Parts: sequence; C-alpha cells; structure tokens
Amino acid sequence: MKAEGFLDEVLARVKDFLESSQTETNIRTSKRLQSLQKTTDLKLPLEGRGLEAALDDIESVLRHSVRTTAPGFMNPLWGGLSVSAIAGELVTAATNTAMYTYEIAPIATLIESSILKRMAELADFGTSQGTLTTGGSNGNMLGMLCARQAKLPLSSHSGFDGQNMVAFVSEESHYSFSIASNVIGIGHSNLIKVRCNEHGQMLVESLEEEIQRSLRNGQTPFAVLATSGTTVRGSFDPLREIAAVAHQYKLWMHVDAAWGGSCLFSPRYRSLMDGIELADSFCWDAHKMMGIPLICSAFIVKDAEILRTVCSTGATAHYLYHDTGADVDLGRYSLQCGRRNDALKLWLAWREIGDAGWASMLDRFMELADYLEQQVRSNESLELVSSRMWTNVCFRYVGSSPEEERNQLNAELRERLIRDGRFMVSRSTVDENIILRSVIANRNITENTLDAFLDTVVALGKDIERGLPEQ
Ligand SMILES: Cc1ncc(COP(=O)(O)O)c(C=O)c1O
Repeated sequence: MKAEGFLDEVLARVKDFLESSQTETNIRTSKRLQSLQKTTDLKLPLEGRGLEAALDDIESVLRHSVRTTAPGFMNPLWGGLSVSAIAGELVTAATNTAMYTYEIAPIATLIESSILKRMAELADFGTSQGTLTTGGSNGNMLGMLCARQAKLPLSSHSGFDGQNMVAFVSEESHYSFSIASNVIGIGHSNLIKVRCNEHGQMLVESLEEEIQRSLRNGQTPFAVLATSGTTVRGSFDPLREIAAVAHQYKLWMHVDAAWGGSCLFSPRYRSLMDGIELADSFCWDAHKMMGIPLICSAFIVKDAEILRTVCSTGATAHYLYHDTGADVDLGRYSLQCGRRNDALKLWLAWREIGDAGWASMLDRFMELADYLEQQVRSNESLELVSSRMWTNVCFRYVGSSPEEERNQLNAELRERLIRDGRFMVSRSTVDENIILRSVIANRNITENTLDAFLDTVVALGKDIERGLPEQ
C-alpha cells in the first residue's frame, strides 16, 4: 500500500470515528481490562506487518478508545471537538519541528508568540512573556519557580536550600502545586493550605493569618498561589483581595487559571477573574474549556527576565542559540528542549471563531450548566452539594436512602454509570460526601443530553436502592 492511499484511508476512519461519536450511545468500550488484554494483539513483531495491517491496528484503537468528543463525555475538565484544531494537530505532525529556535520553527514561533501576546492582553498583563507548556501542572510549577527566583535571585545559579521557604494555596487547589513543591525543592509540607469558605474560595483573612504565622515561625513566605476555577467545584478565588495581601507582604502571586481562564473572553463572566492584572503570572489550559486537543496550555509572566533566568542554560546550548540580534527564540523561555508546536491548533481554532466565538461558547456552557443545576435542584432524588460558579455541577443521588448509606450508594452508582457506557462523569468528594461532578466543556452538549444523563443517574440509583442487579 502506498503512503498517500494509506493516509486517505486513515483520514476516512478518523472522520467516521468523530462523526459517529456524536450519535453513538456507547461512548466507551464495554471490554474489561483482562478481556481487552487477551483479545488485542499488542506484540511488537520481529518482521514488519506493513501499512495495510496498520489500518487494522488503527481500527482497533478507535474501537477501544473512549469517545471523548461525545456529548455524554462530561468526565474530566476537557473534551469536545474542534475540527480546525484537529487539522492543526495533523499539520503539526506533518511539519514536525521543535519550538526552540526561529531558525527551525519560523512560522510556528510567530504563531505561538501571537497567541501568548493575546492571552496576556486578555488578562491586562501589559508587557509579558510566556511559553506553551506541557499542561497546567507545569504552568503551576513554572509559576512557583519564577516566585522562587524573584525571592532569591541567586537560586537558579547557586542552588537552593528550600527548608524555610513557604508558599500558600487554597485547600481546594489542584494537586499539581504539591508536586511542584517537591520539584522546586520546598517539599509538600512547606506548601501551606489556606482554608476556604463554603463556596470553595480561599479565605483572605485565613491567608493573612497563615502568612503571619509563618513569619512568626521564622519561615520565608515567597508565593501566593490562587485558583480561578477549582477542579471539583469550579470556584474562583477573590484575586483582587488576594493580590492586596500578596503585595503587602511582597509575595509573588501566581494564578492557576487552567480551568477558568476562558472567562476572560466573556463580558458576562470576566469579572470572575477580577484583579488578574495584579498577579505576576498565570497559567491557562486551552485544552480544557476551549476544546483544543491535549496538550495546549499557556504560562504567562509579567517579568520576562525572571522566566528567562529560570530557563537559562548558561552558555551550554551553543549548538542552538547564537547571538543574532533579534531575541525571538522561544526555547529561551522554556524548560523543555524539544517541544511540540502546540500553538498551531489553537491559532487555527481561534481564527475560525474569533474572540466572539469563544465568548458565545462560554455563555452557552454557562447556560447549560444553569439548566443542569436547575434540573438537579428540582429533582427530589438528587441533591446539589455545592453552590455553582462555573460549569462544574456537583451533585449526588439521595433517593430515599439514609445519610449513612449515601456514600456507598453514589460510589456504586458511579461504577454502574461507567459500565453502562452512555455517560462519563467524575467521582469526587465534597465535605466527605462522595458526589458526581459533571462539567460542561463540549459544544455538542444540549439540554436533551443533560435530561438523558439525569434520567440515567436516577434510574441507576433506584435500581441500586431496590437491590436490582445491573442490566
Ligand atoms: C485547577 C487545575 N489546575 C491545574 C490542572 C492541571 O492541568 P494539566 O492537566 O493541564 O496539567 C488541573 C487539571 O485538571 C486543574 O483542574
């Protein structure tokens, strides 16, 4: 089989997969682990099997993949389908390059720079620099590294004894801050968790108390890490008030807007991030709410020099960087060496729909989340377990079961829901309660999708209460 004919065949199969995902009711393979292991040929052969056989392999991969563009997929904080972005992925693979220098990635460098500039403008960040990273987790780590650099300018050069350095984050923040605390050298125990209010937002008075306590203990605070859009409840920390405290104590302020950053497009919801312009850095995942295929994530910092120092290679990368005058090489602002062109897919999608398209997408997502919230509220078998600020809708099935049985009931319900295969949502915990967290981040979700989802949840809940086996 010839390469061109092969690619046509692949495209036809991918197209069919994407189209059928919009109507197919079963969004995940029904095979369990052992059965999938047994029935799939995964061996790497001694002799090649040829392109024809690769088509069979692709068929098998598509058949056993979760249909993450399907409306019923409301599980993680990403999903959905942007065909222009998928086209961008294809072109990225075909033009395979690394983002370190303009020389080797000329148009891609300009595209990434223009995206970073626009994202910074949306946050009123003025002069800034940034980089696309491997995800919000790494964006948060970069934020902490920049904060460390700002506090101890010699740390990137002479090393760092993090014993006394402490950073502050809300108790509902993403776990990537814990990992980053380990990586940057302060350790988990020096990441101080600040209490939240009943809506899951960082309590500013508690933040100040914790900062003062750490000072009394002889520790050195260096960063406040706020969140715009928490993982479970979708809460937004009060950035303006947090910034006032961070500035008072001369601390770096980083904002994890991996999930919530898209509110900056919407005149209606932008105020959720009121005060973002007062932060020093933030990250924003386009692969979450904006429906761009993983990975596409930005880290933006006001002071370019700090990021450049954090990512400095000294003079060791003489085979890449030369003093040619114009400072356009993006590799100087990244912790990676080889780095994909993740910008292209976002750029194509952005040019397709514009700021206005992102804004109306977000407004529609919020409308759908309002709808889902109302349906949950008005269904006596269900209980909303958290107030809602974003498109996360956290609820549980209560039926007629006593309180002490509800955790087990919801854990079992979620298992059955996944095996049922029509919908996928996350199992999370709010205030010790096991709950279902559904998120709206897919333009193909409609009110009908949400009605069918809740009907399924209630039916499964009733089956469990009646002691009926799975159908
Ligand atoms: C609030 C928040 N921040 C950061 C992350 C990590 O992002 P990534 O998966 O892109 O590393 C997540 C992931 O869900 C998140 O919910």
